[in-house]
Amino acid sequence: MEIIIANKSHSHYARIISETIAASAKVRGTGIAKRSAEYIIEKMEKGNAVIALEQDQFAGFCYIETWGHGKFVANSGLVVHPDFRGRGLARQIKAKVFQHSRNKFPNAKIFSITTGLAVMKLNSELGYKPVTFSELTKDQSFWDGCQTCKNYDILQRMNQSMCLCTGMLFDANKKKINGHKKIKSNVFRRLKRIKENLLLNQKKKTK
Ligand SMILES: CC(C)(COP(=O)(O)OP(=O)(O)OC[C@H]1O[C@@H](n2cnc3c(N)ncnc32)[C@H](O)[C@@H]1OP(=O)(O)O)[C@@H](O)C(=O)NCCC(=O)NCCS
Repeated sequence: MEIIIANKSHSHYARIISETIAASAKVRGTGIAKRSAEYIIEKMEKGNAVIALEQDQFAGFCYIETWGHGKFVANSGLVVHPDFRGRGLARQIKAKVFQHSRNKFPNAKIFSITTGLAVMKLNSELGYKPVTFSELTKDQSFWDGCQTCKNYDILQRMNQSMCLCTGMLFDANKKKINGHKKIKSNVFRRLKRIKENLLLNQKKKTK
């Protein structure tokens, strides 16, 4: 398996990547932002994406976005092709795109918002901490990207202060107190359940 920074020569994989992201979002029932093949090609051409290939077969992908004039960086669109899941590939891709983000944007804070337990776990391993949305980018174009999510009404109702997604932040400049502590998956699972009970029940009541 090869896990590399993608470039122009990988453009022909953009369609299958876009289709795999769309199919996965459908299965998960999320309104995840659609990533067109053109958008993915742009990321590859700028050196802002990581691709995993088995021989010449597409296996996984993730890309970098910058927000707030480069003050914030997000590692988004993580996807592993169903044929390659469950063997640690997402962990390797996340590590690669994280290292690439740190090298390329050394002064940026790296963040993520997600409902995915796998991503929360991997972020925590890399040193991200759960934070309130107020600590994330204020760049409105980032939050506008949530418009295609089926829970966008919750985000609006909460004035962009919280949603079903958990915000996580890696800040290289923050002093580590007591070293880096990984958060147990059960904690994320419980947090997710509490938020779903709270926010989805409110949503039903207002209908
Ligand atoms: C989520 C996804 C990227 C995981 O890819 P993968 O290569 O199978 O993941 P890995 O094998 O590297 O697993 C990494 C860790 O996450 C855990 N994990 C994987 N899928 C999980 C899931 N659906 N729920 C909870 N934990 C999960 C694994 O158990 C593993 O932890 P462990 O080693 O401590 O057991 C893949 O299933 C996928 O592409 N899904 C569709 C797209 C998606 O959901 N992307 C995330 C957007 S937020």
